[in-house]
Amino acid sequence: MSDLFKAPKGTYDVVAPFSKLWLEVKRALSESAILSGFDYIETPIFEDTALFVRGVGQSTDVVNKEMYTFDDRSGRSLTLRPEGTAGVLRAILENRLDKGPLPVKVWYSGPNFRYEQPQSGRYRQHTQVGVEAIGSADPLLDAQIIWMAQYGPRSLLGLKKLRVLVNTLGCSKCRPEYRKLLQIFLAKVNLDESTKSRAALNPLRVLDDKREEVQAQLGQAPLPGDHLCDDCSTHHQSVLHYLDVLGVSYESAPKLVRGLDYYERTTFELVHDGLGAQSAIGGGGRYDRLIETLGGSAQPGIGYGLGVDRTCLAVQSENENWSSNNKRGCYLIALDPSATDAVVNLCVHLQKQGIVAEIALDGRSIKAAMKGADRSGARYALIIGQDELIAGVVTIKDLDSGEQSSIALDLVPQHLSSIR
Ligand code: HAM
Repeated sequence: MSDLFKAPKGTYDVVAPFSKLWLEVKRALSESAILSGFDYIETPIFEDTALFVRGVGQSTDVVNKEMYTFDDRSGRSLTLRPEGTAGVLRAILENRLDKGPLPVKVWYSGPNFRYEQPQSGRYRQHTQVGVEAIGSADPLLDAQIIWMAQYGPRSLLGLKKLRVLVNTLGCSKCRPEYRKLLQIFLAKVNLDESTKSRAALNPLRVLDDKREEVQAQLGQAPLPGDHLCDDCSTHHQSVLHYLDVLGVSYESAPKLVRGLDYYERTTFELVHDGLGAQSAIGGGGRYDRLIETLGGSAQPGIGYGLGVDRTCLAVQSENENWSSNNKRGCYLIALDPSATDAVVNLCVHLQKQGIVAEIALDGRSIKAAMKGADRSGARYALIIGQDELIAGVVTIKDLDSGEQSSIALDLVPQHLSSIR
């Protein structure tokens, strides 16, 4: 026998029971966008390479080291998307959504590809749920976007060790002056060659360098929040005010810059304290000049991306048994071939009522069928044999508590809905 194939390095399969958590997390992360009236958008998984070079930025690790770039058979340079924003903005411009009612508000979900060194929480294919809102500079929108980002993780998934970090990076008016100050400061600091060249391209990135030896030298570094123009300062104060109104607890993080070049003004990150080195489960911010960079007419924009992979890890780190203690639906067993038709009818009836239901196949013994019920992840086993058929009832066994009762066949859907 030849060796079995393995998933490529840095990727993994999403299989049950983990896949239940995966779906639950995706749903939870999408919910606030749906509740906030955002429209769903889907874009290709590959785009012209130049879109990411221009959109994500030349000083980023993503563009420099991590893109999956290839020529297609006609010699076009294409890249598997490393993130969602650039492709979504390309689609908004190409479909002229920016010429309709503003702001354009969209959400999306799907895989992204980065050639990174794999470790826990860092993969070569990862999945994000994200949103983008184009055409409004209102600080209320910034606060709403931050509320949306943290709503799923905190309120729906119940994550307790989650912190929301907020910063402002200034704008094209005040940032050049600040950038110069920072460069003067960094010139006096002892940095390795690659960090020096990063400082030359985008000095702000050095601020949130995670290495202790770099951070130790940045104690006196000028911070973007201390060098804002009046407009940026007013904007930031309003964002913080609306975050309070919305009841979002957050921390100011004056050195938070994020790894992509397009951000201006508000930036934020969601970090989880149970994840170790790869602690950011999501992040986002304003990118008021990106649309212009991509060839559109100037429009402000803001958005975020939440990582499904890391959010699953965060849920598991707070609740080790998450996937196994989430039993739902029922498993139907015919004790006798004469009961099979009744079981089939009941199964489809339950499914039409929105209740998860599956049937024991292959006419196995009750012992084997009950094992199947336990393994299926169902909460209830529904059993029909000759006695039940004659009496017009179903035996219901709660697979958690072991309790068993008998209920009239036509009352089963109602009963299951009430205890679901
Ligand atoms: P990002 O911070 O690069 O932002 O990625 C967002 C999230 O995706 C991260 O916080 C993390 O949870 C997850 N993620 C990123 N890379 C990996 C990886 N290699 N393995 C596992 N998870 C990963 C963006 O991508 C921006 N487009 C977000 C945005 C949208 N900003 C404005 N609009």
